[in-house]
Amino acid sequence: MTLWGGRFSGKLEENAWNLNTSLPVDKRMAIQDVDGSLAWAAALVQSGILTGEEYEQICNGLTVIKQEFSEQNFLFMDGDEDIHSAVERRLTELVGDAARKLHTGRSRNDQVSTDFRLWMMAARPRLISQIKLVQLSLLEKAENAGETYMPGYTHLQRAQPVLLAHWWMSHFWPLARDVERLDSLEKRISILPLGCGALAGTSLDVDREALAEKLGFEKAAPNSMDSVSDRDFAAEFLFCASMIGIHLSKLAEQMVLFNSSEFGFFELSDEYSTGSSLMPQKKNPDTFELTRGKSGVLIGLLTGLLTTLKGLPSTYDKDLQEDKAPVFAAYDTLMLLLPVLAGGIRTVSAKTKRMEGAVDSFMMATDLADYLVDRGIPFRETHSIVGKAVRMAIELGSGLDGLTLDQYKSIHPAFEPDLYQALNPLESIRKRKALGGTAPEAVQYQIQQARSSLKGE
Ligand code: ARG
Repeated sequence: MTLWGGRFSGKLEENAWNLNTSLPVDKRMAIQDVDGSLAWAAALVQSGILTGEEYEQICNGLTVIKQEFSEQNFLFMDGDEDIHSAVERRLTELVGDAARKLHTGRSRNDQVSTDFRLWMMAARPRLISQIKLVQLSLLEKAENAGETYMPGYTHLQRAQPVLLAHWWMSHFWPLARDVERLDSLEKRISILPLGCGALAGTSLDVDREALAEKLGFEKAAPNSMDSVSDRDFAAEFLFCASMIGIHLSKLAEQMVLFNSSEFGFFELSDEYSTGSSLMPQKKNPDTFELTRGKSGVLIGLLTGLLTTLKGLPSTYDKDLQEDKAPVFAAYDTLMLLLPVLAGGIRTVSAKTKRMEGAVDSFMMATDLADYLVDRGIPFRETHSIVGKAVRMAIELGSGLDGLTLDQYKSIHPAFEPDLYQALNPLESIRKRKALGGTAPEAVQYQIQQARSSLKGE
C-alpha cells in the first residue's frame, strides 16, 4: 500500500514503480527516519493531535522498529516505496490507529530532507576522523624524515632542493583545509526542515525551534518553500568530497611517479602494492592509481548533483530524490580510500640516497645569484650573471660545481672561493627559514602547528 493510494484506482506499472522507488538508496537513513518521527510525535502531542497514550504507543512502536533496524531484522515489504513509507507501514502493524496520526501536518518533503541532514550530521565527523588519520601518517613521515632532502619541482623540472619533511607536510595542509571546510559545512547542514510541510508550512501549532533543538539542529529553516528544496548542503558535501579527492589524487600521482624506476625515490610496501599477471617483475602502485582514479568519480558525482539542481522549479521536485545516491557513494568511496591511503603512506620507504642524488648543482643557481646579491649586486643582474655560468657549465658538460674559480671570475669578478658553499643543497635549504620555508627549524615549527591543528587547537 502506498501512502498516496486513495486518489488512484489503478496500480503503478512495474517499471514505473522501480523507477519511482527510492528504498534501495534511502533505507540507509532508517535510524534517522525513526528519530525524526519520534521528535515529530512529541510535537503532535503539544499541538493536541496525539493523546499522551497514543504518543506512548507510537514511541514504543518506533523503539521496536529502531531495534529491528539495528539488529538488521526489519522486514521490508514489496509495497514500501521509500524508507518513510516502510517505517510508517511497520508502525501501523505494531500500534494500529495511533500510527495513522503520525503523518499529520508533515510531508515526506520536509521529512526526507530532515533525515538526510541527520544522516550527514552523523557521517561528517566519521569522515573527518579518517582524513585526520591520513594527516597523521603524513605528519609522522615528516617527523621521521630528519634532514633528508630531495629535488623540489616546478613544471616538473628540477627547481630547488627541499627537505623531504617539507614535501610530506605540503600534502598535510590541503587536508587540513578539507577538515576546515567540512567543519564550516556543519552550520548549513544543521538547519531543520521538519515542520515545513509539503511546501507551505504546517497548519499545526508546533514550536519548530524546540523541535530543532531536540533533534540536535542549530536552528529551524526560516522559509518552508526554500527548505523543502534546499540541497546546498548535499552539493557542498560533494564539493568537499571532490576537493579531498583532488588532494589525495595529487599526492597519489606523486607517489606513482616517484615510485617509478625513473625516479626511484620511494619503495611501496608489499601490503599496498600489487603484481602483474603477465610480468613477474612488476610491483604496481594500484592503491595510489585507484586513489587518482576515484577522484574523477567524485568530481562526477558533484557535477551530477549540480546538474540535477540547476533550473528546478521552486520547492520540492521528484528530481531531488536523486540527491542521496551521489552523497552516499562519495562518502563510501572516501571511507574506503582514506584508510588505505593512510596505510600506504605509513608503510612507504624513502630511498634517501636516490632522492639526494637527484639534487644537482644547477638547482642551487638561485642561491648563487643570492650569493652575489649579498655582495651588493642587484638581483636582476645576478640572475643573468649566473645564467652565463649555467650556460658555460652546460657547454663544458659539467655542473655549476664543476666550474673553476677562474672560470667564475671570468664571468664576474665578485665571485670568491666561498661561492662553492652556496652550491651545497643543505646550505640552500637552511637559508629558507622564514615562516613556511623549507629550513629545518621552519619545518619543525610547521610540524608543531600541524600537531596542534590535528588536536583541533
Ligand atoms: N523518496 C522521496 C525523496 O527521496 C521522498 C519525498 C517524496 N515526496 C513526494 N512528494 N513524493 O525525495
